[in-house]
Amino acid sequence: MSYPYQIKSLDEYHDAYKKSISDPAKFWAAIAENFLWKKKWNNVLSWNFTGENAPQIKWFEGAKLNITENCLDRHLKDSADVPALIWEPNDPKENSVTLTYKQLHEKVCAFANVLKNNGVKKGDRICIYMGMIPELAIAVLSCARIGAIHSVVFGGFSAQSIADRINDAACNLVITCDGAHRGAKAIPLKPIIDDALLQCTSVKKVIVYSRTHTPVAMMKDRDVWWEDEIKKVEAQGKTDCPAEEMDAEDPLFILYTSGSTGKPKGVVHTTAGYMIYTTYTFVNVFNYQPDEIYFCTADIGWVTGHSYIVYGPLAAGATSMMFEGIPTYPDAGRFWDITDKFKVNILYTAPTAIRALMAHGLDFVKDKKLDSLRVLGSVGEPINEEAWQWFYKNIGKEKCPIVDTWWQTETGGILISAIAGVTKLKPSYATLPLPGIQPAIMDEKGNEISGNDVSGNLCIKFPWPGMLRTTWGDHERCRKTYFDAYPGYYFTGDGCLRDENGYYRITGRVDDVLNVSGHRIGTAEVENAINKHTNVVESAVVGFPHDIKGQGIYAFVITEKQNGDAELTKKDILETVTRIIGPIAKPDKIQFVKGLPKTRSGKIMRRILRKIAEGETENLGDISTLLDPAVVEEIKREKV
Ligand code: WTA
Repeated sequence: MSYPYQIKSLDEYHDAYKKSISDPAKFWAAIAENFLWKKKWNNVLSWNFTGENAPQIKWFEGAKLNITENCLDRHLKDSADVPALIWEPNDPKENSVTLTYKQLHEKVCAFANVLKNNGVKKGDRICIYMGMIPELAIAVLSCARIGAIHSVVFGGFSAQSIADRINDAACNLVITCDGAHRGAKAIPLKPIIDDALLQCTSVKKVIVYSRTHTPVAMMKDRDVWWEDEIKKVEAQGKTDCPAEEMDAEDPLFILYTSGSTGKPKGVVHTTAGYMIYTTYTFVNVFNYQPDEIYFCTADIGWVTGHSYIVYGPLAAGATSMMFEGIPTYPDAGRFWDITDKFKVNILYTAPTAIRALMAHGLDFVKDKKLDSLRVLGSVGEPINEEAWQWFYKNIGKEKCPIVDTWWQTETGGILISAIAGVTKLKPSYATLPLPGIQPAIMDEKGNEISGNDVSGNLCIKFPWPGMLRTTWGDHERCRKTYFDAYPGYYFTGDGCLRDENGYYRITGRVDDVLNVSGHRIGTAEVENAINKHTNVVESAVVGFPHDIKGQGIYAFVITEKQNGDAELTKKDILETVTRIIGPIAKPDKIQFVKGLPKTRSGKIMRRILRKIAEGETENLGDISTLLDPAVVEEIKREKV
């Protein structure tokens, strides 16, 4: 594959950027010419960020396509034998798996026919809850093949969280595994699905892939084995599966993400714009060259895996790696072993992983070659300077650019990032907006701040093809969450600064969303979960700086019976949170308090709690509206 739109110099970047702003429709239409269409579009863009039914965003209206023909079929002519996916198992002694474009195409067609045999139709919603195995990517692509909308739920979510997501989207089929291997543990998945489905009446079928070969209960008329179903389609001779004709704006997937309210939102991405945007940004940000090995360490349960393991790289005809395990198993050198084993050229990972590996010391790096590496990438949270330098020196050997990529589930793809080999780097800065992206920094009054050397809340003022279109089942919520705060703008929820050279640095969330090990978790969600515990009267959750996780979760909890066994209550609370949300949302610290700092109108003053959790004791800011200052003194005294 060749990429005529690949940016090779700073001049080319500035030129592309200018064109993308002066005539966005012309700019994106030219890029869209590089894809496979069943029918071309009538209109490149129509949009509205304000008004009653806002947002209304349509890219490539009238066009017909199937994204899997772009990710698979079109590569069969020249790149059939190029590896599409390389999978490295959790256990380094187990064999890795390589699927060429031809093989992946066959597998996707076969499984798409399995879905059809099990009654799946265009527009159906399919929940996917699996470990990081090739079948996860195959399941995702098979849905897209037949026009079903996938909703992947990360393996670390509990039965309750899965049930909420399944019910919100009214999924009628679930694809799962018996279990998943992660480090030294085998994690049950099917039993969790069984628990979830007790609350879900919409689900008629469950397809189970056997990965861990642990015994599971199969429910009659509902549960079937992946392998048996594949044998059936083979016996039926259904090896090919024609790609369903999709409209440019047909939904491709739903991905749930946390916001400031207790209930996760189903972010909806559509087909054509998402495809073009993820491919364009993949090719440009990482400067991908044909035949290179690209390794993104994310999980497909998060947006990074959707956009930059599956869709972007495959549409670009790249070789994309998938890793089942964790960075520290069997030891903290695993990423580097994989890099050397497969001669990885591009490595895209998260600051939390870098910090965790950094903490294990250089012994795990010193015998590794790492000479195949050419580009490094970071995503998920602000990368601190120390981690940046460690990554740059010890992994990139001071010769690989680090692209610090800022984006969100809602944005579909990377919005602000250096372009590898093109943009001059500045540690801890995401640097410059990609072509098509028009950032705006807003002041406290809601006005856009012009010029450089400024800071405020980050908005985007013009649509880009990869942006969310709605939140599933509740369009108004989409408007309220993202478009009401600053009329005419998409509000990101992040704070940022723009330095004297126009470089952007993202400073973190300005709403009640935490970023724990790169996972977005709403404080309200965690509070709701804690409050479910019988002994809990009220709780308030804030973030605090954590060496490895970036942010840790600090919970202030009022209990009913204060003279019980505090340690036991803490354990129970952790179990409650694990049951309601999942282990990823477990508080790192729990402090029992007699009262919470509130205003006279009864609002919890989180600002004060945040300061205390951060270790600040003196300067708590304005506390004049506080109802009972004694509460704060006590919380300070008993800080954990
Ligand atoms: C944060 C992950 C600073 C940010 C792709 C954003 C970052 C949230 C960066 C989205 C970065 C992500 N620098 N902050 N390079 N990348 N973030 O939806 O706060 O899981 O709003 O998408 O992560 O998280 P999400």
